[in-house]
Amino acid sequence: MEWNFPLIQLSAISRVYEVDHSAEAAVQALREVSLVIHEGDFVALTGPSGSGKSTLMNIIGLLDTPTTGQYHFKGKPVHKMSANELASLRNKTMGFVFQNFQLIPRTTAIENVEVPLFYRRPPLPSKEIRERAKKMLEKVGLGHRLYHYPNQMSGGQQQRVAIARALVGNPSLLLADEPTGNLDSHTSKEIMNLLTELNEQGITIVMVTHEEDIAAYAKKIIRMRDGEILETIERRVSL
Ligand SMILES: Nc1ncnc2c1ncn2[C@@H]1O[C@H](COP(=O)(O)OP(=O)(O)OP(=O)(O)O)[C@@H](O)[C@H]1O
Ligand SMILES: [Mg+2]
Repeated sequence: MEWNFPLIQLSAISRVYEVDHSAEAAVQALREVSLVIHEGDFVALTGPSGSGKSTLMNIIGLLDTPTTGQYHFKGKPVHKMSANELASLRNKTMGFVFQNFQLIPRTTAIENVEVPLFYRRPPLPSKEIRERAKKMLEKVGLGHRLYHYPNQMSGGQQQRVAIARALVGNPSLLLADEPTGNLDSHTSKEIMNLLTELNEQGITIVMVTHEEDIAAYAKKIIRMRDGEILETIERRVSL
């Protein structure tokens, strides 16, 4: 049934930002972007500042809606969904990672990871929530930092907590906007190796990055310019 649909299918997606209610000041951030993302893909969106990367990622992540165009998620027409349906789909299927980690301060690593599970309906037993958060932190290599607070962890460790939080609800898609933007090059490599490992275990990833060497970890690189896709480069995966 659903397995023969791509995970994500965008057809002629445009996004115009209204500025000051004036047609002249309006910004066309995306121009008829079409693209397909399959289950298991690891996609890097690259391109200069202002080319539309974050706008595209926010639309894919159901945080923003396109001005025109069609978006199908697992074959379902997202462009026809209500705000409530979108929020529910987003909570169940999307995990987000940001450049500045966005952890809750004065809250331990394990509590940060538990947060998305508290929103589950029907509610999960608290014992199960704790167990799943612990397992996920172990998976990202932080089994020894469960009760540390964000300000007691390195940048790379904080980003690992954020990745664990993004994945604890078993999303179909991990979206990462400049996930290594605040990390030094050594720590960036560690985080990219972790994302590569998670992708090899089956998680679909869409990541935004300015940096060529970070994009090179992805299987597919989509280069954007002025709101359009300039080219798509598929990396040959050696066997
Ligand atoms: N809320 C907004 N209102 C008006 N214009 C916006 C808004 N958000 C983005 N834009 C404009 O849309 C275009 C695309 O912005 P976007 O944030 O998607 O770029 P980006 O590729 O992510 O850039 P960066 O690499 O700097 O993060 C830019 O010209 C930007 O000025
Ligand atoms: Mg951006």
